[in-house]
This record gives sequence, C-alpha cells and structure tokens, in this order.
Amino acid sequence: MKRPIDNSIGLFLFGQTPYTLSMSKIDWLEVSERIDWLKKPTVAGDYSFHKPVSIQWFADGELNVSYNCVDRHLPQHANEVALIWEPDNPAEASKKITYAELSIQVNRFANVLKKQGVKKGDRVTLYLPMIVEAVYAMLACTRIGAVHSVVFAGFSADSIANRIEDCDSNIVITADEGLRGGKKIELKKNIDEALELLSAKGKNSVSKVVVVKRTGADIAWTSQVDVWYHEESAQVSDVCAPEPMKAEDPLFILYTSGSTGKPKGVLHTTGGYLVYAAYTHEKVFGYRAGEVYWCTADVGWITGHSYIVYGPLANRATTLVFEGIPSYPDVSRFWQVIDKHQVNIFYTAPTAIRALMREGEEPVKKFSRKSLRLLGSVGEPINPEAWSWYQRVVGDGRCPVVDTWWQTETGGILISACASEDGTTYPEVLKPGAATRPLAGIYPEILDTEGKILTGAAEGLLVIKESWPGQMRTVYRDHARFEETYFSAFAGYYFTGDGCRRDADGDYWITGRVDDVLNISGHRLGTAEVESAFVSDARVSEAAVVGYPHDIKGQGIYAYITLKNGVTPTEELKAELRQHVRHVIGPIATPDIIQWAPGLPKTRSGKIMRRILRKIAENQIESLGDTSTLADPSVVKDLVENRSNK
Ligand code: WTA
Repeated sequence: MKRPIDNSIGLFLFGQTPYTLSMSKIDWLEVSERIDWLKKPTVAGDYSFHKPVSIQWFADGELNVSYNCVDRHLPQHANEVALIWEPDNPAEASKKITYAELSIQVNRFANVLKKQGVKKGDRVTLYLPMIVEAVYAMLACTRIGAVHSVVFAGFSADSIANRIEDCDSNIVITADEGLRGGKKIELKKNIDEALELLSAKGKNSVSKVVVVKRTGADIAWTSQVDVWYHEESAQVSDVCAPEPMKAEDPLFILYTSGSTGKPKGVLHTTGGYLVYAAYTHEKVFGYRAGEVYWCTADVGWITGHSYIVYGPLANRATTLVFEGIPSYPDVSRFWQVIDKHQVNIFYTAPTAIRALMREGEEPVKKFSRKSLRLLGSVGEPINPEAWSWYQRVVGDGRCPVVDTWWQTETGGILISACASEDGTTYPEVLKPGAATRPLAGIYPEILDTEGKILTGAAEGLLVIKESWPGQMRTVYRDHARFEETYFSAFAGYYFTGDGCRRDADGDYWITGRVDDVLNISGHRLGTAEVESAFVSDARVSEAAVVGYPHDIKGQGIYAYITLKNGVTPTEELKAELRQHVRHVIGPIATPDIIQWAPGLPKTRSGKIMRRILRKIAENQIESLGDTSTLADPSVVKDLVENRSNK
C-alpha cells in the first residue's frame, strides 16, 4: 500500500530555525520551492517500502538541474564566484570561476557532448581528477538530460571496465593525467586499458573518449575514438538550451560497494535529489550567500556530488574544488588553503583529521584560520579524540563541529547537528563522536535483530521509516537487488547497514557497519570485492577478508589467504598479492595485513565464519565466541597461533 505523506502539519514550521524543525513534520512541497521548476509539482512523496518497493517525489514536476545550479543565478549574481579551484601544487595559479564563466563552460561542454552523439538518457562515464572541468562535465550532462556515472580517479582499469559495462556507457570523459600529492595518475592510459578489457569480452559500448588536457603528457591516441576537449569546445557555441526533465528522470548513477557481489549502481533522480542536496547544504551548514565553502571530498564519491557540486551551486555558494591532498607539499596544506581563500565552512573526513593530528598543533597554528566559522565531518565514525582536536585546535575552540551521517544511497545528510550563521547549533550541546539528531523530515528507528523497535536509550540497527526526497530510487537495472539489499531485512523499513546507539538525550551515535562493508579511510569497499580480487590470482585458492581497527584509516584490510597446493607462502608472494589487488580494484583496496591460512573456519554447511576471523584480526582471541558449529575447530587454533601483525 502506498503511504501518501501528510503535508498538512508543520506548514508553519518551514523557514524557521532548525531548532523548531528537528523531528517535526515537514512540508516537502514547500521545501521544493527553493528550486526553480519549469512545471511546479503538485505532489510530494508517493512511496512504499513494502515490496514492490517504489519511491517517487514531486513526480509531476519538471525542471533542469544545470539551470538551477547556474542560469537562475545569472540575472543578479553573474559576477559572483561559483568555483575556486586550488591546484595540487601551490606554486601553480588557482582559479576563480564566476557564475557567468561557469555558464559559458557548461553550455560549451553540453554542446561538445551533443556533437559526440550523446542523447537524453545516455550514460556518460566520467573519470576525472579534481579539476573545474569535472564540475562542467557533470553539469553539462544534466543540461542535456544525460545520466552521468562518475568513477573515482583512484579506481583501476578493471573497476572502470565493470562500471562502463554495467551501465552500457557510450561516452567517457577523462583527462590525460591527474595530479595528486605531486604524483601523476595515468587516467587516459587506464581508460585505454579498460576499453581493451571490454573489447576483449566483446562488450565495448564506448564510441568516444573526450580527453581534457591537464598535464600535457604524451599519451596514446586512437583517432577514431579520442577527441581533445579543448579542440572540440573551441568549435561549438556557448549556448545550449537546458533540456526539460521530469522530476523522476534519472540524474546520475554512482557505483558503491555492498556486502555481496559487484558494486551496485545507485540511481538518483532529478527533482528530489536536487531539492534534498540544496536543502541539507543550507540547513546543516547554515550556508549564507557570500560565504566560501570547502568540502575536501572527491567528486568521485557522493559527498563530492552533493556537497561540492549540486547542493552548493543550487544555493549559489562559492564552492572550493581542491585537486591535492592534506600532506602535500606539507601537512599544513589544508590550513594554508583556508587562509589563502578565506574559507568559512570546512568539511572533511575523520581519516584526514587523524592523520593531521599525529603531526601536532604547530603545522595548524602556523596559519590564522580566522575566517573559519564551522567545521564538518563525514564518511566514517569520528572518534572523540579526533573530534575534540578538530574543534579545539583547528577551530580554536570557537567553531562548532557538525558530524554528518549519511550514505551514497541517502543522497544527502540524514543525521547531523545543524548550524546557524550566528554560531549557534541545534542541538546546542555537541558531543564528541555523536552525529546527534535526525534532520527535520527524517524518521530513524533503532531495531533489535528481530526487528523490534527499541525506544528511548538503546543500541541496535539503524533503519529509516519514511522516505525523503534524496533517497535512491533503485539499483540501476536491478530493482530486485534494490529491494533485497535495503528492504528485505525489516519489512517496511529502509535498512542502512549501520549500527547505532541513541542516548538518553535522544542523540544518535553511529557505531559502524554491521554488514560486510568496510570503511577504509572513509572509502566504502565490500569484503567480497577484495576477496574476488585475491582469488583472481591463479595461486590463491581461497580468500576471506575482514576489517580491523586502524589508527589512521579507521579500518584496515586483513586478509586470510589459502594458497593452492604446491604454492610456497613467502613474503614476496604477499607483496605480489598486495600489488595484484591494487591493480584489480585500485590503491584504496591495498590489503594491510595478509595471513596465510591453511584452512578457513567454516560451518558444516561450508559457510565461512567471519565473526571468528574478525575477532582474530582485532586480536580479541579471548572472545572468539561459540566455536561449536565449526566443521574443524583445529583451523581456528592454527589461525590464532599464526596471527599476523604486519
Ligand atoms: C559511514 C558517505 C559514522 C556509515 C557519505 C555509512 C558514517 C557509510 C558517517 C556510507 C558519520 C558516513 N558517522 N559513520 N558521520 N558518515 N558513515 O556511501 O557506515 O561512502 O553507512 O557515503 O559511511 O558511506 P558512503
């Protein structure tokens, strides 16, 4: 049964401070008015979390995303800065792109795509470094109604090939090379390799590769396929009419890891996503026009999509795009950029904070950071020590820290404190390590493993009861997997895969994933993906991968490997396997620890008992739990005795 949202209550609340908004009903139709619609929607949410699961928002509305992020700001604000670009190397000049310039660039890019044959609904794969063209390309896709699939530039050729194949993409946009921390990343070469892999399978759907020149490196060129962006853009007009899109037309696909199988294509649609990204960007950060806002994520992840590009630009923000890393050329880089561009709002990941914390206060204190008003955290649980250091040292004890919990699937922030321009927050008291409260219009519940709702102070599994506009709509071309992954654990609820504790004050503390998803430095990886990368090496018979606590990365990758008969376990082989996994997935998947496992702990029906493997990896040998269902208990004894610590 569909549950229409009750929009009658809470009308009067919208537009007031977040104090009154939290946990209150919200009029999403009224929220949707922050966006310019070609045709205003008359309905808000229409959804069911019961099978068949169906989610629609603002379904009869029509709009264009690039129009909302660019054109509508032009009449009065054309000369305000939309993008500040800070290069990897501080010796290179930064750029400031006004909304007027952004408009020209997006229109041109859209015309280039059209000329290369891209049509409404086509899937365009982006494999780009953090350069302004990445933003132009995303917005250009939305201008002509193409669906972008951004692949993080740290992924390998294999990972790109899988993603191109899954969405049957006909155009790829890349750069000759990327630059990060002074190192070159051979992006075009990786694309060439990916297309070769696809061709070998007879699955190469790509007709054109548009190449942006970043470093000017000498690269291989296939003249029937490859085109230079700078040459093409010089030949097209800078006027391209925005395509009218239905609210529920697909906007983008973003691949993310789950606990089983290959990464899935999370599909977000046009109207609801944009409304939610813009709404949360304003509410959580208290964003006001004129402020300089910096989110350090990569556009290859959802944080980059929602909080570097779509939310900020829809809100006419000045959003900073940073090509580099926190430790290059030295560990003061973040703070130097903050002073250089007078950043007001800074949003980063706990892993960066932990790494910088190790370097002490001096590299931070060298810079003034007076422009800062607010600090944000995202991507993984932030340990209280890191939160406090962030607040005390980076924010000089005067900037609040908002810990924002959300997921690729949720499109935008669901649980977080909300800040106001004047320095106040809701809730007023921010506890180190707590994501605090759900945003207005978000209804979380904590369930026990049986699905019973736990009230008051409790710890259990985090689910969401009602839909919100930014929610993913399906797994691209696999709706059954969507229903199975998110709606089968607890009927009628969206299951987040996270554990959560609610304290007596009603604050939410995210405790981490309860499934086989790893969070390595804020990057999501499935244990199944890493295992399948291991066994694709002919010498490996079986692999089991678990996470373990890691000081900087949050979680590290611990792999138990069974070799085929006759293969000698050596340190060299460990190094080779590590390299192999990096090659198959990308550097983010580099295993930290490999332990040779003559056997893996299995139940009599052959299921690997990961619980035991996790305990061994965490060095909690004394709490291995019940091992009576093991087919061969001696396997565990061997693993414990030979536990690896490097
Ligand atoms: C984790 C990133 C604790 C969580 C936006 C979630 C967090 C997964 C937080 C989603 C936070 C994200 N506190 N844990 N503030 N933010 N997570 O899809 O486990 O890359 O399920 O989205 O990251 O990762 P994803």
